[in-house]
Amino acid sequence: KIIVLDFGSQYNQLITRRIRDFGIYSELLPHTITAEEVKKIAPKGIIFSGGPNSVYDENALDVDPEIFELGIPILGICYGMQLMTQKLGGTVEKAGEAEYGSAHIEVKETESPLYKGLPEKQVVWMSHGDLVTKLPEGFKLLASSKNCPIASMADPARKFYAIQFHAEVRNSEYGLDILRRFAFDICGAKDNWTMDDFIKLSVDSIREEVGDANVILGISGGVDSSVTATLLHKAIGSQLTAIFVDHGLLRKNESEEVMAALKEGLGVNIVRVDAKGRFMSKLAGVTDPEKKRKIIGNEFVQVFNDEAKKIKDAKFLAQGTLYTDVIESGTDTAHTIKSHHNVGGLPEDMQFKLIEPLRQLFKDEVRVLGEKLGLPHDLVWRQPFPGPGLAIRVIGEITEEKLRIVRDADAILREEVKNAGLQESIWQYFVALPGMRSVGVMGDGRTYDYAVCIRAVTSIDGMTADFAQIPWDVLQKISVRIVNEVKQVNRVLYDVTSKPPATIEYE
Ligand code: XMP
Repeated sequence: KIIVLDFGSQYNQLITRRIRDFGIYSELLPHTITAEEVKKIAPKGIIFSGGPNSVYDENALDVDPEIFELGIPILGICYGMQLMTQKLGGTVEKAGEAEYGSAHIEVKETESPLYKGLPEKQVVWMSHGDLVTKLPEGFKLLASSKNCPIASMADPARKFYAIQFHAEVRNSEYGLDILRRFAFDICGAKDNWTMDDFIKLSVDSIREEVGDANVILGISGGVDSSVTATLLHKAIGSQLTAIFVDHGLLRKNESEEVMAALKEGLGVNIVRVDAKGRFMSKLAGVTDPEKKRKIIGNEFVQVFNDEAKKIKDAKFLAQGTLYTDVIESGTDTAHTIKSHHNVGGLPEDMQFKLIEPLRQLFKDEVRVLGEKLGLPHDLVWRQPFPGPGLAIRVIGEITEEKLRIVRDADAILREEVKNAGLQESIWQYFVALPGMRSVGVMGDGRTYDYAVCIRAVTSIDGMTADFAQIPWDVLQKISVRIVNEVKQVNRVLYDVTSKPPATIEYE
């Protein structure tokens, strides 16, 4: 195990991720951890992450100096290097100019275990305002760049290594090799960690934390909450009650699939609340997109609360928060929430301790975990689906009829995309209903029916997206099937806009 101490860099979770990808367990821990606690964890190595501070800031994030006395190898990255320098007697100064972006380093100590076998000249990713100007006692220079004469340093006797650049980002050409050398050659870690170990570790820690209390969890039908439910079920069985708020805005058969996988398949204690009526009556006549979203968010919380109140001794609220959702740095795994959180806000009088067992993981790791826990492949790997569901794909007022049209047309699209073997290469694909009608001809008669729109995009993270280029013959098949099989549709459109300027969803 290699631990990463969190000094607030936006890349810190990426470091743990890289190490886990090597097959070594790694997690991010708060920088306030004491040497005593580190000793208990007994990691093979410690990495100090980067961070936005300067070591001279009044509130600069500090580290327990005793950590340097544990005899454990340390790698300081960026701020981590500067902190190490300051603590061990070197000098850190403001750089003349902050350096941000690609830089070239020249390795001076090619025999150092951190760089052995790697080229002398490398492109690295720099992002810093301060730099080390004098090495601490016992350290020697390993690499330099034009703007940063001490770009890397080491005290090989104590196994302290440091780099000013970010080895964890892809823009550093040999970054992964450097991390690998630190983890394997310097720390002597072994690549014997797998997702099974993660499961075991999580199960143990959930059991310890929860004791004999009850836990509740809101399920929306999405991957993250489903995996969280499965993991908690494995840990605490019937002490978990998962509340599945079915708002009636899910895709065709989705609600049944979730129940089949979790309840019938795995025996998770899950209560489905059929709240379709409540949602539909609140949404009646509402056309403004933001209002629709707010109503759905609030109603979700209401329904969840009504149900949660029925559960005795519920002390914990679990959430499928992933690392991407974690805004605050630090790893307090349980804190009291009052009003607002992912679920959308709970009343002041409901106080729960929060459990977020996935907060160390990335989405694709969560999917691997889900499969390991026995969830069906299709459920775990399905495309992202927004919390407000089909409500933001039916433009304007939502009616049962419009929902039926979107749901049926969407099911055909999904089926044909799958038949064409494209489901893994398109990031998200769905049918939206613009609410517009147009004239058509069917048989010998004039029709005046709805047009539906196919939206398909490729993306990495949903922040930007390109429209996906579904082959014409596949589109043709989809179009023919939709107008034939879905009543009241006489026209199929294909959205060829990227994001920006459009968004992926329609509202
Ligand atoms: P947009 O439409 O903003 O969507 O380009 C980007 C990604 O986010 C999803 N999305 C949501 N997910 N709750 C969610 O959980 C929401 O309210 C929501 N709105 C959009 C969308 O499906 C796409 O993947």
